[in-house]
Order: sequence, then C-alpha cells, then structure tokens
Amino acid sequence: MSRKQYCVANWKMNLTSTEGVNFILDLVSKDIMSASAKIILCPSFTGIIPAVEAAKDCRIEIGAQNVYFEPEGAFTGEVSTAMLKDAGCQWVILGHSERRHIFKEDDQTIARKIQRALRDDLKIILCIGETLEQREAGQTDALLKSQLKSAIENISVIPEDGFCIAYEPVWAIGTGKTATPDLAADAHRLIRDNLTDMGLPGETVSLLYGGSVKPENAKELIKTDGIDGFLIGGASLKSEAFCQIYEQFKS
Ligand code: PGA
Repeated sequence: MSRKQYCVANWKMNLTSTEGVNFILDLVSKDIMSASAKIILCPSFTGIIPAVEAAKDCRIEIGAQNVYFEPEGAFTGEVSTAMLKDAGCQWVILGHSERRHIFKEDDQTIARKIQRALRDDLKIILCIGETLEQREAGQTDALLKSQLKSAIENISVIPEDGFCIAYEPVWAIGTGKTATPDLAADAHRLIRDNLTDMGLPGETVSLLYGGSVKPENAKELIKTDGIDGFLIGGASLKSEAFCQIYEQFKS
C-alpha cells in the first residue's frame, strides 16, 4: 500500500524571516526535490509570508506551528485559520508536546483546533507522544490511545491528502535520544490499529516519526515499517542537515 511520504521541518521559535528565506533558496539551488516525499517547512508566524513567496516556484509547502480554534474576534495574540490561508499557508502542526506541556494546551483545546482546521481546509500534522515517566510506568499504549481518541473522536472523515499524525515520544524531542526503529514501529502499529478501531483509515493515513531525527539515524528510521516520514526540529535548522535527511527518502 502506498502512503504519501513527508519530510517536515518544525523550526519552532528559531530562524528569522530572512534566515528562513535563505534556507528555502538553498534548498531550491540544491534541487533536492527529486524524491517523491513532500517537503513542508513550518516557520514562525512572521516567517510564513516570506517563506510562501520564496517557495512559490517549487514543490515546498509551508505550514504554521499553531492556530486558534475561534474563527475571528477579540483574542489578543492569536492567529486564525483564515489568516494562515490568506498568507498562503497550507498546513498546521497541532498537539505538539511543547504546546501541551509549556503552554498547557489540553486535549479538548487540541480537538477544537483540529475541528477548526478541518472545517477551514487547513491540512493537519497532529502530534502525539508519551513522556519518559509515562513510558516507564507502562502507560504508553493507553496514553497514545487517549490522545488519539480525544483529538479525533468527533471526526467522521480524515481528508485523504492532508492529515498526518506524528508520533513524537517527548523524551526523544531535542534530547539526542531517538526511539529505536522497533519502538517506533510498535507505536505506529498501535496508532494504525486504534484509528481502524475508530472507523478511520488507519492503514492509509501517513504516520511520521519525530524526536531527534538527524542525518545519522534517518536512513534506518525511514526504512522502518509504518514510518512515512519525519517531523524534524533541531536538525531542520540547517539546510545541509535537512537535505541529508531528505536524501534518505530516495534510497
Ligand atoms: P527534535 O524536535 O528533532 O529537535 O527532537 C522534534 C519536534 O519537536 O518536532
């Protein structure tokens, strides 16, 4: 079964607009987009419009790192789906562990954001993943199941092109510790089975892995059963490392 592959950069609160544009120009000059995997770059809000402009003649798509669930109104500091779409943004990352843990976004907030993004045709990268304490307490399966359920239980249809789930064990994010391919494969299998149990297309949805992906481990991970791509933080900040990771999709 062929599922779409994705190589996604989550720049977090890094790279100015100028640095983001230079990154994109570098990718374009290297002409790396020959693999079939889609490249999605997620700059900060202020970097979106310049990134869209820089990427307009290539196959790179631009995503946001957050969006609010209300369509408009008195919500100081928030950004709406309409604003993102107007800026040329196609994707949004939702449920990232930094949003959950640092900014205290709960499952209900994430579910509302997902519903808003779906309603307004923004493509979604939903992140789920367990902390080290949860893994050590044997709670990983239950946690993944409950994050998944609360995020999408009110969704009857997952858009075929435009809904990915990223399994990101929190203990592997920014720590240099990567999940072993077996561990990632088990989590991905669990996610697919749970989606299927919920009446959703578990075997056809693209599942990404995130957590200290780097050029050195990308080859083994992308060959792992059920992994359809990556959500990359630290190693996505330098175009050279990002390109080296992307190259692994070709082999
Ligand atoms: P990392 O971040 O690659 O730096 O571990 C991944 C993420 O947070 O999406």
